Amino acid sequence: MAPVDPHSFTDSSHPFATHVSLSMYFDFASSTIHASSLLTLPTPYSGPISLDVRSLSIISVVDPQTLTPLPFSLSTVPEPIKGQHLTVSLSNHSSFLVAFSTSPSSSALQWLSPPQTFKKTFPFVYTQCQAIHARSVFPCQDTPAARLRYSARLNVPRQLSAVMAARHIERRSPVSGEAAMACDDALWCADGRVVEEFVMEQPVPPYLFAFAVGEIGFREVGPRTRVYSESVPGLLDAAEREFAGTEEMIRQGERLFGPYEWERFDLLVLPPSFPYGGMENPKMVFLTPTVIKGDASGAQVVAHELAHSWTGNLITNKTNEDFWLNEGFTTYAERRIVEVVQGEERAALSIGIGWRGLNEEMERFKDNMEFTKLKTKQEGVDPDDIYSRVPYEKGFQFLWRIERQIGRPAFDEFIKKYIATFKFQSIDTETFLNFLKANIPGIETQIDLVLWTEGTSIPSDAFEPVSNIYIKIVSLAKEFKLGRMPREDEVADWQGQEWELYLENLPKSVEASQVVSLDARYSLAESKDYEVKVAFLQLAISSGCREYYSEVEKTLKEVGRMKYLRPLYTALVQGSGKEEEKILAKRVFAEARDCYHPIAQGVVESILSKHL
Ligand code: BES
Ligand code: ZN
Repeated sequence: MAPVDPHSFTDSSHPFATHVSLSMYFDFASSTIHASSLLTLPTPYSGPISLDVRSLSIISVVDPQTLTPLPFSLSTVPEPIKGQHLTVSLSNHSSFLVAFSTSPSSSALQWLSPPQTFKKTFPFVYTQCQAIHARSVFPCQDTPAARLRYSARLNVPRQLSAVMAARHIERRSPVSGEAAMACDDALWCADGRVVEEFVMEQPVPPYLFAFAVGEIGFREVGPRTRVYSESVPGLLDAAEREFAGTEEMIRQGERLFGPYEWERFDLLVLPPSFPYGGMENPKMVFLTPTVIKGDASGAQVVAHELAHSWTGNLITNKTNEDFWLNEGFTTYAERRIVEVVQGEERAALSIGIGWRGLNEEMERFKDNMEFTKLKTKQEGVDPDDIYSRVPYEKGFQFLWRIERQIGRPAFDEFIKKYIATFKFQSIDTETFLNFLKANIPGIETQIDLVLWTEGTSIPSDAFEPVSNIYIKIVSLAKEFKLGRMPREDEVADWQGQEWELYLENLPKSVEASQVVSLDARYSLAESKDYEVKVAFLQLAISSGCREYYSEVEKTLKEVGRMKYLRPLYTALVQGSGKEEEKILAKRVFAEARDCYHPIAQGVVESILSKHL
């Protein structure tokens, strides 16, 4: 018994499944998927095998050839973070079939009723499996140390279509006998149902499993890119415009990091409740609709998710304790792409926003310094609770520091070799450091690698960006403290990111009258750019400006992106003597909760419970 990952029941003495074949019958009326999964092992195996399960009903486990039942046990009380432990006993089996159903509370799945969609006609369902939610969709060894290929048959109502982070094979009528114990043949083949088939030929960690089902349309935006969303013409048109530059970014990515190994790079714009800005599901990135705003920042989120095609999806962190290997590398790679396609100023601005964010996280974790490290200990810790900018921005700073040390040409060569060496593998921080030391001899005498990866806080050789625009904005923010507001000519060409940087450099709370006059001049509370709007509303709440609470409430009810929910709810409930704000937060959450993805529900609940 040796666990491979603090967030999984996977056991190092058991073989890893290398393939899963899924049959899924979507029942929108009960927000349930009736399913079966055929798990394949590399060689015949006898003994127990441990799988992760959360919110699933396990109906049976059988030998796929004879259909005879196989012994299995399911731990009765779910562990709060890991969920339930499913053990199947095998005797010389190289595969086994599990029949199961998801539940409406499966944490990866958000089921939207028609009124919760843009078009309001049909229901919609989608997954978000990272970090440890794949186990609520199918039983699996839910650790990024595992990699598996898969095939999937999704049986859905004929009016809907399905997309997956996998290759689409065909849309066709159901065939009798193919339900593979997911449900009765009669149900599987009923009138009005279609099957959408997919395969994923590249081995991927379970957190990259993803699908969406709804009334979905698409537009072509490049030779290997379509943008998908609910089929609302206005939305598709806006998305097509926003992401027109995608092919150029893929080409730049290939130039910098090596071949794009995933064939297609499609984009799926989800309903506003999508809990992240973007999720790097392979072949099909999932995006929040809030990135469509017609400036440079939408493309930056795409650049980030695209960069994961190399760092994260090709080379994967072995467990969430090495999460910085995914996000730090990706943040670095994202900014290299942004620098080529949008210029150095834009890249510097985003480094500046990141630097500000990193410093704020030091404050957030001042009583829990473990999470200011790159490599963290996460036994007993829910990854959703400690999600922060540290792995992104401290990871970025570490790589940038190495780049400065050895020069860009040498670092570029190093990164290409790193990707080529470890592609399709899951690695830890030690593996990266050993590779670094072997390829850049003497680096450990020039940079304190142990301090960077195992130490808390921000090392003193981290670097605040120096660009004209960055310095200008930071100094304007300093002047605001002295009562000077930026003049119209000073902000004339500001886009969202400039405002974001400005607002984030203001003190946490200022005179209420100053907040009001800033907004009177620049209408920040009504900005269509949520980064700006939320940064402003956060300042308004902490400065005690009650006149903005209705805008806060409206915002919390129209989007479910956690990047916005977290700071707004936190600003409302943090600190003493804020009874009115706490009551407001509780009421708004009670009313908005059903519109949030289950992961976001959990995160808001934990913010409220910490402070109420
Ligand atoms: N992989 C992350 C999203 C994620 C992280 C989901 C951890 C679940 C657990 C994704 O690549 C990401 O970092 N998204 C950012 C985009 C931004 C950095 C451009 C986001 O959602 O804000
Ligand atoms: Zn990322």
